[in-house]
Amino acid sequence: MLEIRKQLEETIPVIRQYYQGTPTIGIILGTGLGKVAEAIEVEVEIPYEKLPHFAVSTVESHAGKLLFGTLSGVPVMAMQGRFHYYEGWTMKQITYPVRVMKALGAKVLLVSNAAGALNPLFRPGDIMLITDHINLIGDNPLIGPNDDSLGPRFPDMSDAYTKELRLLAEETALQLGIRLVQGVYVPMAGPNLETPAEYRFLRLIGGDAVGMSTAPEVIVAVHSGMKVIGFSVITDMCLPDALKPVTLEEILATAATADEKMARLVKALVPKIAKAVEK
Ligand code: HPA
Repeated sequence: MLEIRKQLEETIPVIRQYYQGTPTIGIILGTGLGKVAEAIEVEVEIPYEKLPHFAVSTVESHAGKLLFGTLSGVPVMAMQGRFHYYEGWTMKQITYPVRVMKALGAKVLLVSNAAGALNPLFRPGDIMLITDHINLIGDNPLIGPNDDSLGPRFPDMSDAYTKELRLLAEETALQLGIRLVQGVYVPMAGPNLETPAEYRFLRLIGGDAVGMSTAPEVIVAVHSGMKVIGFSVITDMCLPDALKPVTLEEILATAATADEKMARLVKALVPKIAKAVEK
C-alpha cells in the first residue's frame, strides 16, 4: 500500500473516536479568518499533536487544531492553522490534512489566505475571490509514485477553483454589499517578502495577488476530486514603483480589518455551497 493510504489508516480511526459525522466542507483558515472559526458551532476540537502524521504549525499567528461542527447548519471541519512550505514541511505534510478531509467525506475545500496585491486596483482589506493560481513555490505535493486510488497521475486543472462555486460567492457578496475583487493568486516559497523586481515579474506573468500558501492544498483537493473555493484577504500593496516596507504585524492588522466581512461572506455562502454539491 502506498504511503498516504497507510497514514490515513492510522489517522482516520483516531478522529473517529471523537467525531463520527461527515463534513460537507473542509475549511482552511488562513490569516484573517479567525472570525470564521468563531462562527463554527464546534462539537469537537482535536489539536494536531494528537493526530498521527499531522505536522504541528510553528507560526505563532496560527493555532493548530482541527475543528468539527456546523457552520450555518452545514457540517464542516476546519483546520485552524495551516502549514507553510517555508516552515520546512514537505508538500506532502502541508497537504495531508486535505487527504484527511477527503477521507472523512468532504466534497469541498474552502481555503483562505492573506496576500499582497499585485493588481493596483485592489485595496488593503479587500477580499479577492481566487479565480486561478500560478504555483511558483517550486515544488508539488503530487511528485512521487501516484496512488491511483486517491486520484489520477495527471490531474486536470482547467477548473481548479470551481466556477460553479465562484458564481455563488459573487452572488453572495453582491447580496451582502461586500466588495469582492477577483484574480489570480501566485504563491512563492517565502519566507521573505518579494523584491520590487519580483513583484514586477509576478504582475507581468498574470498575477493579481502574491502569497506563500494555498496552491499545494488546492492541487491535492483537485487530485482528490474535491471542488474548491478560495479567498485572499489583501493585506498590502505590492506595486514595484510605489513600494513601502511592510511588517508581519501590519499584515496581520490589515487582515483583522477584513475578518468580520469574511466571516459574514462565508456564513452566507456555506449553505449555498452545500446545496450545490448535495444535489
Ligand atoms: N508577499 C507580499 N505581501 C504579502 C504576502 C506575500 O507573500 N502575504 C501577505 N502579504
